Amino acid sequence: MADVSTCNSGAVAIERNGDCAFAKLAEPVEACRTCGGTGLLPTTVEEQGRQYSVVAPCARAKANSRLALFNAASIPGVLANATFETYRPAHPEQDRAKSLAKDFAFRWPNARGFLLSGPVGTGKTHLLCAALRHATLEMGAQAAYVEMSLLFSTIRKGFAEGKSGAEIVGPLSRVPLLAIDELGKGRGSPFEMETLDELIARRYNAGRVTLFATNYSIKAPEEKSRAPQGRHWATGDLVEAGKESRLLSERVGDRIYSRLFEMCEFLEFPTGTPDARRARLELSRPKR
Ligand SMILES: Nc1ncnc2c1ncn2[C@@H]1O[C@H](COP(=O)(O)OP(=O)(O)OP(=O)(O)O)[C@@H](O)[C@H]1O
Ligand SMILES: [Mg+2]
Repeated sequence: MADVSTCNSGAVAIERNGDCAFAKLAEPVEACRTCGGTGLLPTTVEEQGRQYSVVAPCARAKANSRLALFNAASIPGVLANATFETYRPAHPEQDRAKSLAKDFAFRWPNARGFLLSGPVGTGKTHLLCAALRHATLEMGAQAAYVEMSLLFSTIRKGFAEGKSGAEIVGPLSRVPLLAIDELGKGRGSPFEMETLDELIARRYNAGRVTLFATNYSIKAPEEKSRAPQGRHWATGDLVEAGKESRLLSERVGDRIYSRLFEMCEFLEFPTGTPDARRARLELSRPKR
């Protein structure tokens, strides 16, 4: 489909609606003068040399179904306007990340996932959301966004209502495109590690595409220097090190990290990449 926001389907408004971004047509299908509000137009199709008269969705109805994909993705409301156009790289690695995310979104569904690691406010979530926006609105992808720590708390709340973890993790393991944000965040409890392991292993086994963002580093661990002198890591050491570590591999463990490697292109913004939230705040302060 052509750019949903400019085709003759009418203007699209995307705004924050509570926690999530919400897209709607400026004029509903019911007001479409081309189809008389039915969402359908008569058309002719040709098959094996014969012509058939059929009805097909009008441009506005087609656009509406793309907007439904966007709305189902649960993109955070605060990033309702995150696009590739609004992402301005301040560092060469951010430039690379933008190209990586853009390339991914334009190639969907023939695309490998990516993982962005870096300091706060560097636009990792922005790029995840821009990729989901393009993939849903322009490429027709079924997608979802999830923040890891929110997922853990949703599952815990679900337990209280008699829901199993599988009821919540199931749809996320089946959606064709999933963006997992804040990977590695949490207490690292057995419940959290098992939930993450189940989600990633199920997506990995099914060959489903996943995008990730994390504040934890993907740089090669200086593992030996951290091991207790003169002996190998014991399980207890690993759990303790994982809780403290700034390394993603230690936060999520070898099983998950190994799968991430196969599922994704990794990219890390270096320490010192500017925090766009701070920059925005400083710009908005009156000059003395
Ligand atoms: N390079 C950029 N160009 C334009 N806006 C940016 C850029 N980087 C970040 N922003 C904006 O700054 C805010 C914070 O960005 P975002 O939430 O993507 O950061 P993050 O890297 O995910 O941070 P955190 O690690 O804290 O989750 C958002 O409003 C986002 O749109
Ligand atoms: Mg973020």
